[in-house]
Amino acid sequence: PRRLWLSRHGESEYNVLGLLGGNSNLSERGMMYAEKLPELVANAVGDQPLTVWTSTLKRTQQTASKLPYQQIQWKALDELDAGVCDGLTYEEIQQKYPEDFAARDENKFEYRYKGGESYRDVVTRLDPIIMELERQENILIVTHQAVLRCIYAYYMDVPQEQSPWMNVPLHTLICLEPRAYGTIETRISANI
Ligand code: F6P
Repeated sequence: PRRLWLSRHGESEYNVLGLLGGNSNLSERGMMYAEKLPELVANAVGDQPLTVWTSTLKRTQQTASKLPYQQIQWKALDELDAGVCDGLTYEEIQQKYPEDFAARDENKFEYRYKGGESYRDVVTRLDPIIMELERQENILIVTHQAVLRCIYAYYMDVPQEQSPWMNVPLHTLICLEPRAYGTIETRISANI
């Protein structure tokens, strides 16, 4: 891509409750981000053409719903599947599956949730996304924290053992400009 714009979805109802995964709606605060995003993107992108890619989950589509650009949904952009832990809090996982909780802490990149995915699995399923991105000009991807960590790590050369621990803030637009000598990054906070 010439420029790649990345954003997490706005705050979701599950984010507020501290629950993993699911397919919840945006919270009121998350909707405020969705309302503000068109202005944020227009100021940053200018009048260049842009295509928006979202996941198939409601929270990314609600976040992108006010954007006046072509939108494409990708199943491959859905959040890391937490399997049997989907819909639980971290405390509940620690109580119900203490060994899994510890194993994940030990090697977060390789740890695969029972009936779900690891970060390595997500990196693998993002392969076609990265391939397609390489053929595109300006793309805005609205997706989920774990998926963004993987895409970000690919462009910024973050090592695999670090990428699952990176904080990707809510309500922030990240711009990546791949260049011959490395990728230039800028971040714009929506202050919401
Ligand atoms: O808490 C938000 C969230 O996107 C969850 O839906 C997801 O399971 C989690 O972050 C991924 O982060 P981690 O891999 O650090 O648990």
